[in-house]
Amino acid sequence: EKGGYEHFMLKEIYEQPQVIKDTYRGRLLADQGIIKLGGLEDHIHRFINAPRVTIVACGTSWHAGLVAEYIFEDWARIPVEVEYASEFRYRNPVISEKDVIIAISQSGETADTLAAIKLAKQRGAFVYGVCNVVGSSISRETDSGSYTHAGPEIGVASTKAFTTQITVLTMIALRLAQAKGTISTRDYMLHLRELELVPTYVSEALEGDGKIQEIANVFKDAANFLYLGRGYNFPVALEGALKLKEISYIHAEGYPAAEMKHGPIALIDEQMPVVVIAVNSNHYEKVVSNIEEIKARKGKIIAVVTEGDTTVKELADYIMEVPQIPEALTPLVTTIPLQLLSYHIALMLGRNVDQPRNLAKSVTVE
Ligand code: F6R
Repeated sequence: EKGGYEHFMLKEIYEQPQVIKDTYRGRLLADQGIIKLGGLEDHIHRFINAPRVTIVACGTSWHAGLVAEYIFEDWARIPVEVEYASEFRYRNPVISEKDVIIAISQSGETADTLAAIKLAKQRGAFVYGVCNVVGSSISRETDSGSYTHAGPEIGVASTKAFTTQITVLTMIALRLAQAKGTISTRDYMLHLRELELVPTYVSEALEGDGKIQEIANVFKDAANFLYLGRGYNFPVALEGALKLKEISYIHAEGYPAAEMKHGPIALIDEQMPVVVIAVNSNHYEKVVSNIEEIKARKGKIIAVVTEGDTTVKELADYIMEVPQIPEALTPLVTTIPLQLLSYHIALMLGRNVDQPRNLAKSVTVE
């Protein structure tokens, strides 16, 4: 049932090229410039007329929501708020009939997310679900939605659910941008074609596994890790840190790279590995300066870079390469080495990778 892999988590990491394809299959017709999500087409006016979109989720699904915030705002020019479902439900959120809520959940059973949906519905909002489990409570409670086609996710640490959620959210953002006329035809077509190539890019990223294993071996005994990223890759830094802490029990923190100087920089010394996502982007030069600041304080740098990178390669102690891809799609590839790094470290420490202590696959209590 693990398909020859030692753990479900590893199997699920390696399934990502296939399940990303399964998620866009029949919905993305790149040659014809078409994105067609059944649940969206019938309600597209709700999104277009909404003053904003509020995303509610927990954990890894909340991180996928943060990635969506960047792409929705950039392409579709819709203001987006991303909320922890557990906070949203106990606040007195300002929500009315015009609001659109997107609830993201792999299991479709997370108690806080379900309660947030019920609250939003009571106030008349339109609720759209992005779930993996067909027929789950959240998929039944939402007004409409799109499933991710990740297949069963058994490992407690969410991996393929995250990348398929981003795939669906990217399609929604592109479709809304097209409908609103807020994206150029050139950019729209480019991103459709590149999205179709993501499975190939993810396969390429997976080829770095052997090297990542060596890096894991060097840093497995570290007591702390810092993860830094900017823009689209800030949420990936958070997700990388969550993955490491939940399965290896090593303390890790994710931060937007530029926030480092407002506090966390005090933590940096020769004992501190810092994972920096430093792929080609609008912020590349800025991230390079952040790396220089870490180096000046003797921090150990593990950088996720674009293939062919030379600048960061020279500065970093170790690099993990991912293929070149348009910036908005980079989270789909930069996540891969971070998943593998956590997996290998946890395995080397003898942890129960698929069933980490204190955690359950779906959190049905608040
Ligand atoms: C992290 C993880 C959890 C879940 C969270 C939400 O690897 O698995 O943080 O992401 O409990 O679960 P779903 O997506 O099922 O609502």
